[in-house]
Amino acid sequence: MSNFTPTGTFELGRRPVHRLGYGAMQLAGPGVFGPPKDRDAAIAVLREAVASGIDHIDTSDFYGPHVTNQIIREALHPYRDDLVIVTKLGAVRGEDGGWLPAMEPEDLRRGVHDNLRNLGLDTLDVVNMRIMGNIHSPAEGSIEKQVTALAELQREGLVRHIGLSNVTVNQIAEAQGIAKIVCIQNHYNLVHREDDTLIDELASQGIAYVPFFPLGGFTPIQSSELSTVAQTIGATPMQVALAWLLHRAPNILLIPGTSSLAHLRENMQAAQLRLSDAVLAELDAIGPANGEH
Ligand SMILES: NC(=O)c1ccc[n+]([C@@H]2O[C@H](COP(=O)([O-])OP(=O)(O)OC[C@H]3O[C@@H](n4cnc5c(N)ncnc54)[C@H](OP(=O)(O)O)[C@@H]3O)[C@@H](O)[C@H]2O)c1
Repeated sequence: MSNFTPTGTFELGRRPVHRLGYGAMQLAGPGVFGPPKDRDAAIAVLREAVASGIDHIDTSDFYGPHVTNQIIREALHPYRDDLVIVTKLGAVRGEDGGWLPAMEPEDLRRGVHDNLRNLGLDTLDVVNMRIMGNIHSPAEGSIEKQVTALAELQREGLVRHIGLSNVTVNQIAEAQGIAKIVCIQNHYNLVHREDDTLIDELASQGIAYVPFFPLGGFTPIQSSELSTVAQTIGATPMQVALAWLLHRAPNILLIPGTSSLAHLRENMQAAQLRLSDAVLAELDAIGPANGEH
């Protein structure tokens, strides 16, 4: 077996959180734009997540836009003291639902105030600076202006902790010269492992790594090898994909997204799955086999 338990907690900003959290992006309408088909169902998912012990929710005011944060507020405000809500800045939505970069200091200030208002908070726990890069993958370039602007908002007491999203190793180093960085949120999952070295480096620094698209995102991971392993150990492929991430490194925090109570329950059970060394080796081989390593 691997040498740490896949459950437990890891530090995220002001407190340790359980390693399995919840990503709220799926609660907006189709294409993460507009209201969901069933608002009551979205509220039920959030309430059950928190009642079941989830203490880390990932969101953004550009989901909807505004819709996801407003649903979180309606479902959970006043928030439990132990709930860490992480949001992100860096984009706004076009009238057609497009994702438009909004990374100037005045955009970030406006974004912080939008999040505070729609979530009903005086201070945001953790704010990820989402660099737009090549949309789903990072691209090199200075992020000094953005991190400096966030550090100023932190000094003003509007932001407690700063994280980064969709960033390169060089950008993380540059940001660390300006402010304390508590988490990195990049694209990573069983079949998309470009950040393998980065994850281990962040673990040695005690920094949380929060993969986005942990289940593959808009097109959940499909792999016959994954399905075979899942069947062998009596779990679902999505549970195994999440359990693999929990075993991968102790600083990985999960935020699988779902609009479904059934999927929420299924995903939460992944925290209990123990994967043997033999199973981990089979799963480790899937990424390279899919040619996405
Ligand atoms: N920083 C960034 O740039 C960035 C980008 C994307 C996402 N994020 C964050 O990361 C979180 C997770 O990403 P994500 O939601 O895009 O992708 P994901 O967690 O990889 O996958 C979500 C998709 O998987 C489906 N799903 C969830 N559980 C399932 C299960 N047990 N069985 C079958 N299908 C299942 C969901 O559909 P159902 O709704 O039908 O369950 C949805 O289509 C988001 O909520 C967001 O907070 C951040």
